[in-house]
Amino acid sequence: MTATLYRGRLLSFLRTPESVADEGSYRYESDGALVVENGRIAAMGDYASVKAEAAPDAIEIDHRPHLILPGLIDTHVHFPQMQVIGSYAANLLEWLNTYTFPEECRFVETAHAERIARHFFDEFFRNGTTTAVAYCSVHKASADAFFAENLRRGSLMVAGKVMMDRNAPQGLLDTPQMAYDETRQVIADWHGKGRNHVAITPRFAITSTPEQMAATQALAEEFPELHIQTHLSENREEIDFTCSLYPEATDYTDIYARYGLLGRKTLLGHAIHLSDREADAISEAGSIAVHCPTSNLFLGSGLFPMKRYQRRDKPVRISVATDIGGGSSYSMLKTMDEAYKIQQLQEERLNPLESFHLMTLGNAEALSLSDRIGTLEIGTDADFIVLDSAATPAMALRMETVKTLAEELFLLQTLGDDRSVVETYVAGCAVKGRS
Ligand code: GUN
Ligand code: ZN
Repeated sequence: MTATLYRGRLLSFLRTPESVADEGSYRYESDGALVVENGRIAAMGDYASVKAEAAPDAIEIDHRPHLILPGLIDTHVHFPQMQVIGSYAANLLEWLNTYTFPEECRFVETAHAERIARHFFDEFFRNGTTTAVAYCSVHKASADAFFAENLRRGSLMVAGKVMMDRNAPQGLLDTPQMAYDETRQVIADWHGKGRNHVAITPRFAITSTPEQMAATQALAEEFPELHIQTHLSENREEIDFTCSLYPEATDYTDIYARYGLLGRKTLLGHAIHLSDREADAISEAGSIAVHCPTSNLFLGSGLFPMKRYQRRDKPVRISVATDIGGGSSYSMLKTMDEAYKIQQLQEERLNPLESFHLMTLGNAEALSLSDRIGTLEIGTDADFIVLDSAATPAMALRMETVKTLAEELFLLQTLGDDRSVVETYVAGCAVKGRS
């Protein structure tokens, strides 16, 4: 197969940036070339040497003067919530009960799940997100629709059939046995097929009985390589209700610990209001606190103490995510804009290098997938995006005064959105605007 060479300004992170001046944390090629062959990155570096040594015969696509980055990664989204974004509610539990649970009931219809799955991939690719970690609905057919669509699209996606057997409408409940059997079937049907990854997905402790949590534990023991995703400590009222349902547990985190659910591939959505004991336990387990900035602001859930978690003697691993549809934007750029403001309100700084590291390599490392995604390293999957820092008149005007790469990234984060995404490549194929 002929190789394709993409010319542009390449940016790929190597490690966590220690400051806004940490030039050793990334690789930047001001006239760079990325060579793709068979869906993988075959070469990367400065244009002149890559062209001469690695790809003299390659087809060339010129993306100058734009930036070429790894595809963005979103570590927490709800695929059945595309039609509840922007629903007016006082808080999390009101929002779930009034809008979200009724909406998810619609996914009992296969045709509806298939239609929304098509929109899901269109919208994520339009925003430059090439990998997402998704909750489907309780209905197995919703997971089948999601994974079947992803098999057609070719992206690396992590998703799971939601397990929930109480405190929700009848149309949204399974049983411990159903949750176990259907999750096993989803794993058998989809895990490892194409780039599909199945996650064990108990929604949260409020909607799972102890019997269902035990079924979750059985799955986690049977399939230790799988991701586990759930929600934790998002909202004060949620925390109190949860603890009342599991009085034997020390705290909310301890509920998941008791069922063996805390490990290095466990993603804990929100995790805003953790005690020191909980943060220690999560740190020791190596689980991930998933920060969902637009959702936390939209639902008024609280200010995620990212810097405090990272600075602890026992640091908490973190990732970032949109949390569509509690979140209010599909764009990871907009998401990091809000993450920045959440740190500002706590008198902490989140520098633009850290933001772009988090959306790419940082999130890939949180998923234990940095050998495949989140980077432009040779041999990894060719998921990458092309970003225009002057995509709108306001951005073009501001770009006139930008002097450094960090300033440019900060501008992209502050004023950018899907309009800045010129193209999205999944396994080497251009997918923006193509259903
Ligand atoms: N906690 C349990 N389910 C959900 C959900 O769908 N969205 C959010 N934001 N929090 C939850
Ligand atoms: Zn969520």
